[in-house]
Amino acid sequence: MRSMKKYCILLSELWLCAFFLLTGCAGTKGAEEKKSIRIGVSLYRGDDTFLNNIRGELERCAKDFEQEKGVKVTLDIQDAKGNQNTQNDQVERFLALGCDVLCINPVDRTAASVLIDKAMAAQTPVIFFNRQPVAEDMDRWDRIFYVGAEAKASAVLQGSIVVDGYRENPEKLDLNGDGVVSYVLLEGESSHQDSLIRTEWSVQTLKDGGVPIEKLTGGIANWERSQASALMEQWLEKYPGRIELVICNNDDMALGAIDAMERAGMEGIAVVGIDGTTPGLAAVESGKLMGTVAIDRTQYAGAILAIATGEALGWEPDAKLEFEDGKYYQCPWQIVVKK
Ligand code: GAL
Repeated sequence: MRSMKKYCILLSELWLCAFFLLTGCAGTKGAEEKKSIRIGVSLYRGDDTFLNNIRGELERCAKDFEQEKGVKVTLDIQDAKGNQNTQNDQVERFLALGCDVLCINPVDRTAASVLIDKAMAAQTPVIFFNRQPVAEDMDRWDRIFYVGAEAKASAVLQGSIVVDGYRENPEKLDLNGDGVVSYVLLEGESSHQDSLIRTEWSVQTLKDGGVPIEKLTGGIANWERSQASALMEQWLEKYPGRIELVICNNDDMALGAIDAMERAGMEGIAVVGIDGTTPGLAAVESGKLMGTVAIDRTQYAGAILAIATGEALGWEPDAKLEFEDGKYYQCPWQIVVKK
């Protein structure tokens, strides 16, 4: 896994360098060149592990950009603490401070129109990320973008980790040898575009791959480790010796399930996640997590920053970023398992 990670980081860095070089060559639309830009960033929750990883990478990419381009980038990063009103206030403040561009991870993805109204009134472009606004909102202005990673693709890869594992060694998943893999499912927020799609396609991939499965139960743990841990604790008591697989919509919930298994002194139950967070990758490495599906953080954060700087500086869009419908950028996923 280590060598794959290194390769991946190298690829990301090459990708970023190529991107910045190309954007640099593309020239500017405006006559006057800015020497500094201010980017307002609001996270739906600052304690979300996946978003914290993206935040770290965004800060790193901004430093690289400053060094390579000689343009000072001020990232003003705020935590909306799961409150849409707080986020609305943060956006107003960003605009009052004269931010050149906004990068918003919306609390309520169906309420983006309020933020868009404010941004459009100030003629300030917006890059939404991770929580996708509805199409009607995205279509309101050609300076609104979205950076994310396709939910279906992540789920199909997650399912294929289990399919491959089952084909290699069915006994590792069918622990009691009854010919069926009994699973429980931990889901993210019900309002999040990723939750339903990931759940549907992980299970569908197992079926398509010929893994005989039976669902024992499932529940919503809102992406959170502690909520997942509490649910798993109940399920371990309710289904003693029966749970063979835990399918999780993200790594943090997978780690929560593992916490509960450790507390109960249980071993051998397979757990799969999605995200490739720092603790998620460490759990794969240590053998606690059967596998995860990871995005390339540098590419994800690099895309947000590239669009933001391009918009703020008036640079022509770079050919290297492939947008869907001119505004959606989806970062690719890859499987991470211990070899
Ligand atoms: C998902 C991610 C979760 C959580 C959520 C927040 O895409 O898998 O871990 O970060 O976004 O919106």
